[in-house]
Parts: sequence; structure tokens; C-alpha cells
Amino acid sequence: MYKIAVIPGDGTGPEVTAEAVKVMQAAAGKFGFKAELTEFDFGGERYKRTGETLPDSAIEELRKFDAILLGAIGHPDVKPGILEKGILLKARFELDQYINLRPVRLYPGVETPLKNKGPADIDYVVVRENTGDLYTGAGGFSMKGTEHEVAVQSAVYTRFQVDRCLKYAFEYARRYGKKARGRGKENTLALCGKTNVLTYVYDLWERAFHEMGQKQYPDIKREYYHVDATCMWMVKNPEWFDVIVTGNMFGDIITDLGAITQGGMGIAAGGNINPEGVSMFEPIGGSAPKYTGQGVINPLAAICAMQMMLSTLGQEKAADAVEKAVMFVTANKLKSLAAGKMGYSTSEVGDLVAEKVAE
Ligand code: IPM
Ligand code: MN
Repeated sequence: MYKIAVIPGDGTGPEVTAEAVKVMQAAAGKFGFKAELTEFDFGGERYKRTGETLPDSAIEELRKFDAILLGAIGHPDVKPGILEKGILLKARFELDQYINLRPVRLYPGVETPLKNKGPADIDYVVVRENTGDLYTGAGGFSMKGTEHEVAVQSAVYTRFQVDRCLKYAFEYARRYGKKARGRGKENTLALCGKTNVLTYVYDLWERAFHEMGQKQYPDIKREYYHVDATCMWMVKNPEWFDVIVTGNMFGDIITDLGAITQGGMGIAAGGNINPEGVSMFEPIGGSAPKYTGQGVINPLAAICAMQMMLSTLGQEKAADAVEKAVMFVTANKLKSLAAGKMGYSTSEVGDLVAEKVAE
């Protein structure tokens, strides 16, 4: 029995979350586990009503769950930054979800903008550190509003933060790398950094990476790429990558690039993971307010987020079945992943995946 907190959120968030829950219940029935859901109304509407984003009391309550499923946060009437910082980043930081796991996997039948690349080529995972870097908010203004104004925002990393992220990435590569999955000769972990310019922060990352790799993970091949080159190769030779580990800011940027190569926001999902605590799973796309309530938004990204949740909870068989069902639907059913062009409504897509899981 799992206790799952559900935050459907804003815009099309509730529609896609409902489909993820539908598929989860199909998997629960098939694989013999139970999920008890508790819904929370955090998001733009609640903020407009009460001025509250994610109160401290909610953080304490969320700690009691096995996992959190999030739909989407973002409201057209709320100034950018408020909900993102107040809900999404607050949950990540307060619950110490120090890993942001973002698979970049092209499913069969899905169109990619990369010429001559298919599912065998686009099949890697980014492990983005999720608590440090430019995101810590360290910095400030001086002489604000004058012509001599100074703005400073610092990239901050501790050895502890770097080490725990690298450990997760090495373990992940050992367990789910290309060799482990029968897709290649080696399990490879690539560090994405910028050691030629960020000579403090990525020097720390690079030293920690090789020390840990040499001592504890000699079975895992180590590679290093600068972030700018990473972007280039993600487009030209995505098949080179297996597991990529990187800091928070570079991870944010390269995972949007990755997402578009796997078919875009209709399919891209991520997990904010605290391996020792409560993790939160979300589709990477936003709340898509203009499609709200029309039943045209693609729920696959939310379903894939739920799939990652099952895997993290240890329900590997159920997670596998959900992934295979999604692949069946992309390969055989959907005309497109784009909202309104799928050939099916939002809930019909959920039905297709749920039926396949239950089969
Ligand atoms: C993401 C988003 C967030 C981030 C924003 C909304 C704060 O872009 O999840 O990648 O920068 O991490
Ligand atoms: Mn982002």
C-alpha cells in the first residue's frame, strides 16, 4: 500500500494527472499493490484566493507520503517566479530532492527533429543535481536602480552535494546503463561541466567524479564533456550518451534540449528524487492554460512521470509494463503528440495506455 500525494495544479495539470492516476490504478490492479491518494490544491488558483503557495505545514504533511505526483504549476494571472519559487523549488529544496532525473528516450512512432535518428539513437538519461548551483539564491544587488548597479548571483556547490549526486549517478549507471539494459557494451557516465571557465565549481565536480569513479565504480566508463559541446553532441550524435550527470543550471538547460529531441513536452517527464525521503514526479511541460478543459492535451508525459514514480517505489514490473504500454500507444495509435492532433482525446489516450497495462 502506497500513500501518494497528488497535486494536480494549474491549467491542464488536473486533466493529465487524472490520466496518470487512471493508469496507475490499472497497474495496481494488475501487479497487486494498492495506492491511496490524497489530493492537494496548491497552485495558482489557491494563491489568488489565499496568497499561499506551499506553506511550511504542507511540507511537513508531504513528508508523510511515499511519493508526490505533480501535474503542472503556472497561472497566466500570477507573475512569473512566484509559483515556481513558492511551490516547485520550495518542495525540491525543503524535501531535499537532490536529484532531478530526466530520461531522454525516443519512443517508437514519435517524431524527432533530429534527422536520421531513431529510438536506438536517442536513449539516455540526465541526472541533474537539484539543490545547489545558481538556484541557491546566493547573491544580491548593490546600488540598485543607479547606473552603477551591481547584481551578483553565485553558483554554490559543496563537496557533500556533489558527492551524493555523483553516487546516485554512478549507481544509476550501474543499474540502468546501456550495458545493464542490454543496449551496449559498457555502462557509461558522462560528466557535463565547464572546467575551462568555471574553474572552481566544475573543478570540484571533476575531481570528485574521478575520485569516486576510480575508487568505487571502476566498472563504469567515465567521460567528460563541456556543456556547450554536450549540446552539440546531443543533436549530432545522441547515441554517444548513456547517463549524463551535471549541475543544476546546466541540467535545466540541456534537459529542455533533450526533451525536444524525444518528441517535446507531450512526452518528457522527470523525477525530483530524494533517495532517502519523499520524491516528486512531474511532466516537464507547463500548465498549457490555453488548452485547459478541452480534453486535447497529451497526458503521456504525466503518465511517464507516474511510471518513474513506480520505478522509484520499487514496483519495477509495473513500471516496465507502463513504459511498454506507452510505447505501444505511440507506435500504433497516436497520430501526433501535439495537443489537439493526437487523433484521440486526453482521456482516450489514458484509456489506451490503461487497457494495455491491464492486458
Ligand atoms: C524545470 C523548470 C524549473 C527549473 C523552473 C520552473 C523553476 O524549468 O523544472 O526545469 O528551472 O528547474
Ligand atoms: Mn527547465
